[in-house]
Amino acid sequence: MIFHQIATARGCQSYLIGCSEQRSAIIIDPELTLQDNYLALLAKEGLRLHYLLDTHTHADHFSASQALAKRLQVPVIMHRNSPAPFVSFHVDDGEMIRLGSLKLEILHTPGHTEDSICIYVEDRVLTGDTLLLGGTGRSDLPGGNPEKLYNSLFNRLLYLPPETRVYPAHIYSNRQYSSISNELATNPRLQISERAAFIQQMNNLNLSMPDHLSEALRTNLSGGKTVAGLIAEAAEKVPFMSLSEVALRIQSKSPDILLLDVRESDAFRQGRIPGAIHIPRGQLELQVNDRLQDPTQRIVTYCQFGKISTLAAATLKQLGFDRAVALDGGFNAWQEQGYPINN
Ligand SMILES: [Fe+2]
Repeated sequence: MIFHQIATARGCQSYLIGCSEQRSAIIIDPELTLQDNYLALLAKEGLRLHYLLDTHTHADHFSASQALAKRLQVPVIMHRNSPAPFVSFHVDDGEMIRLGSLKLEILHTPGHTEDSICIYVEDRVLTGDTLLLGGTGRSDLPGGNPEKLYNSLFNRLLYLPPETRVYPAHIYSNRQYSSISNELATNPRLQISERAAFIQQMNNLNLSMPDHLSEALRTNLSGGKTVAGLIAEAAEKVPFMSLSEVALRIQSKSPDILLLDVRESDAFRQGRIPGAIHIPRGQLELQVNDRLQDPTQRIVTYCQFGKISTLAAATLKQLGFDRAVALDGGFNAWQEQGYPINN
């Protein structure tokens, strides 16, 4: 078995498992920003991806399953209770996925979410957010249920052989894995093994909401895009121009650029790059025919932070302004670096 644990900056763990004989692979809990890392790892290991799998509907990170499935034409596996429309392969408790000569057993372990599964393969179990190192998944987010979590842990997962290695979907320490016996002995939440007391413990954790909760749930449930994803997609289609290049050009006699400020009117009124014209992003499609009459003109869009301007430049390109460019940085950066401003 080929086994890679891939961590993101915020402690989310994804896993690449490959059959060393038949070179088939699965990626479990892929994260949106690591797509190229997974592809590079597959290539380096000489593996062909057969499946993507999410252990549950994540509320705290953005799944790359849909995007990778589209790119590589492989099915996305989730539990049959998963509502995500891009899941093409539903599994349930006690079923098994074949991956070359490997057998991946599915345990349905609801509690953190209704669609939580654990994957048991050879000497290890990928526990998703059901069992963490020294903790458990929370049960207070949408779909969570402490009573079901109790059953999933004490009547299912913890019955695996004690030496089974435990690989969770989140790690908040510098350990990489644990074992069932170690968790049974040391995990503080598992020391309360009486049902009612366990549920009471879970109901009184008073955890703060994870960052990006609504955006993660929205995109992971629906297959919709994140705002960052939308901007990254636009950034792949437009060139950028640096602040210093724009500054040089507006000082020259033939700047060969039209600066387009796409911020709201108040921001434009308070200060702008000299020579800029103004069409708020929300008005772009409405005003484009009147205000931008030369489709061959090189238009440099800018906004406050250098994000929305990327979307505006991509829209302009779609509308036929083939030379639309986005400023690399926003008005804030322009101001911070002491370039001239008109009020
Ligand atoms: Fe989770």
